Amino acid sequence: MKLFSGSSNVPLAKKVAEYLQIEVSPIETMVFPDGERRVKLNDSVVEEDTVVIQSTSTPVDQNYIELFFIIDALKRSGARSVSVVIPYLGYQRQDHVFRDGEVVSLDVMIRFLESLKVDKVIAFDLHSIKIPELFHIPVVSLSALPLFAQRIQSKAFNTLITEKPDDFMKDKILVSPDMGGLRRIEQISEMLGNMPGIATVKDRDLRTGEISIKQFEGPLSPSDLPGKRALIVDDMISSGNTVVQSAELLKENGVVSCDVFATHAIFSEEAPELLQDSKIDRVYVTNTVWIPQEKRFPKLHRLSVAEMIAKELRNN
Ligand code: R5P
Repeated sequence: MKLFSGSSNVPLAKKVAEYLQIEVSPIETMVFPDGERRVKLNDSVVEEDTVVIQSTSTPVDQNYIELFFIIDALKRSGARSVSVVIPYLGYQRQDHVFRDGEVVSLDVMIRFLESLKVDKVIAFDLHSIKIPELFHIPVVSLSALPLFAQRIQSKAFNTLITEKPDDFMKDKILVSPDMGGLRRIEQISEMLGNMPGIATVKDRDLRTGEISIKQFEGPLSPSDLPGKRALIVDDMISSGNTVVQSAELLKENGVVSCDVFATHAIFSEEAPELLQDSKIDRVYVTNTVWIPQEKRFPKLHRLSVAEMIAKELRNN
């Protein structure tokens, strides 16, 4: 197997390569003065099974284009197969028409991947369970939830947040910051021996994108919240508004601590400052998206999905 990396998340590709005990194969990328890019593989791939790792996070279009170019170079150079690991799949929130006249951006990106004859796509925590159905090629949808469950059960985490580190279930509740995430809460609740859960209800203005979170829904009621330690679980943090507003409502209702677990650290706009200055106590994310030094903040904790990716690649 030969492993290549786009430029969006080289540290993750290197970690995956370490687990696989191989090297990341070299690629030469150059950008012409007019902004056009050129990609050249510096390794032979004739009759090889190849893998490309590229998160299509910010700058989304540039990272997609670079990925398309690498795939094309692999195919033209005689690779037997090309599997694409897209730890964060850009445009996944635009997976259907919300208002008349809109594009389905994700579908456009999928058609590019398919037309380049990609053999398989491996992605993490897709925004909706319907996304794999939009593809006409095999999609493996991995999840960081087991990683989060492991951390929630760990003594290190429980020593940090409670006086009873041996009883990880004590006073904890799972929270989805919106109704769309309830399925995710059910899944992680099962991994955690049926830890109870609740959702905060989010309204979004489709025109301005502004959100507001004002009420609760789900098996628990607000009267169950005082004294509890909330574990908010979401697929991604972009502006940070969703988890910040959810934590505010939880604390207003008597919750004593709020930890956030989100797979994709998109961190657009002023998210790092907003999260650091919020009612949230700790923010756990994974390395599906590379976080540059200037976007890291004291409350941030990072977990790695590299081993999960390596295991998936090794099994195929
Ligand atoms: C929405 O449905 C997603 O699951 C996330 O909650 C959302 O994308 C987070 O966005 P933001 O951080 O901008 O509020």
